[in-house]
Amino acid sequence: MKTTIRKIDRTADLDLQLCDAAEMIRNGGLVVFPTETVYGLGGSALDAEAAGRIYAAKGRPSDNPLIIHMSDPSEAEKYCYTNPTYYRLAEAFMPGPLTVIMPKRDCIPLSVTGGLDTVAVRCPEDIVARTLIRLSGVPIAAPSANISGRPSPTSAEHVIDDLNGRVDMILDGGDCRIGLESTVVKADGDSVTVLRPGGITPQMLSEVCGEVSLDGGITKKSETGTAPLAPGMKYKHYAPRAEVYLLTGNKARIVEYIRSELAGNDDVGVIAFDEYLPDVAGRFTVGIGSEADYTAHAHSLFSALRYFDTTSVVRIYAMAVEARGIDLATYNRMIKAAGYKIIDFGE
Ligand code: TXA
Ligand code: MG
Repeated sequence: MKTTIRKIDRTADLDLQLCDAAEMIRNGGLVVFPTETVYGLGGSALDAEAAGRIYAAKGRPSDNPLIIHMSDPSEAEKYCYTNPTYYRLAEAFMPGPLTVIMPKRDCIPLSVTGGLDTVAVRCPEDIVARTLIRLSGVPIAAPSANISGRPSPTSAEHVIDDLNGRVDMILDGGDCRIGLESTVVKADGDSVTVLRPGGITPQMLSEVCGEVSLDGGITKKSETGTAPLAPGMKYKHYAPRAEVYLLTGNKARIVEYIRSELAGNDDVGVIAFDEYLPDVAGRFTVGIGSEADYTAHAHSLFSALRYFDTTSVVRIYAMAVEARGIDLATYNRMIKAAGYKIIDFGE
C-alpha cells in the first residue's frame, strides 16, 4: 500500500489540509493523526471492517479494545450510556488527555470494543485531531500508531518507522505535547477507577469526583489470576529490543552501579536524569530531563526507548522516576518496558 505523508501547517487553514484525509476515514481508510498524547491510527468507529484493518495494520490482538475519539465531549451520548460522573469529568478535563469507559450503545460494533459491552471515549485537545474528526462526520477509533508492543509514537518519524506502507495516510503534525497516552478511567455511578495513568493524575481526578481508586498492575506486577480491567495493560509493552532494568533507591549507589556496569562494556544503555549525565556518561547514555521536571520525563521516555533500537545496546539501566503526579504514568510505562525488573539500592 502506498502511504501519503502530509506535513500539516498549524498556522494555515486546517479544513483545507484535512478534507481529503477526512474523506478517506469516511470511506473506510486508515489515517494516522497527531494528538496531544501520542499519534493515533484512525479509522471510522462505526465501521467494523475499518476496525479489522486497524488491528491488522498494528499487528494487535483483536481482544484489545480501541478508544473512540470525538470532536466534542457532548457526542459521547450517541455512542454510550453516559452518567453524571462523565459530565463532571468532561467539564473539567475535556478536550484533553482523559479517556472514559461507559456501557456502549449498539451503533458501536463489537469489533471496535474487542467484544466488550463497554466503550472508551475521548475528546483530544489537539486541534488537528478534532478538525479531522469533525470533517469526517464519524467518530474515529484509534489506538496508538505503533506496531503492537513497541513504544507509542510521539513524532511523525516514529510513525513512519512503524507504519509506512500499512496505512493510507500519515498526517505529520510535529511532536506530541505530552508524549504519554491518555489517562483511562472507568466511570460508573459515583466510582472512578484509573485503569491506565496519564496526564490527568489521580489527584486531579479526585478534586473533581471524590474518591478515586487505582486498578492493580499500575505500579506492581498484578497477582497471577487477576486480569487488569483494561485488556491492553496485560500485554508486553513499550519494550525495546534490549533488556531494561529499573534502578530505584539511593542515587549515589545507583550512579556507582551504572559506572561499574559501563566500565568495559560498550553494549550498555543508560536513561538518567540530566543532573546525573556527567556521572554516568557513556556511548549510549540519554537524559530525560532534570529530576524534578515531570513533564520532561513524560515527553522524552518513548523517544529514548526507541533510540536504543537504533543502537547495538543489549542492556538498558533506567533511573526510575517516582510513582507520583504525572510521573506515576511515566513510572508505569518504565516498569512495563522493564518487564517489572527492578534493582533496588535502598534508602
Ligand atoms: O492517548 C491515547 O489514549 C492514545 C491516543 C491515540 O488517543 N490512544 C491509545 O490507544 O493509547 P491504545 O489503543 O493504544 O490504548 C487504549 C487502552 C488499552 O489499554 C485498552 O485495553 C484500553 O485503553 N481500553 C479501551 N477500551 C476499553 C474498554 N471498553 N474497557 C477497558 N479498557 C479499554
Ligand atoms: Mg497503545
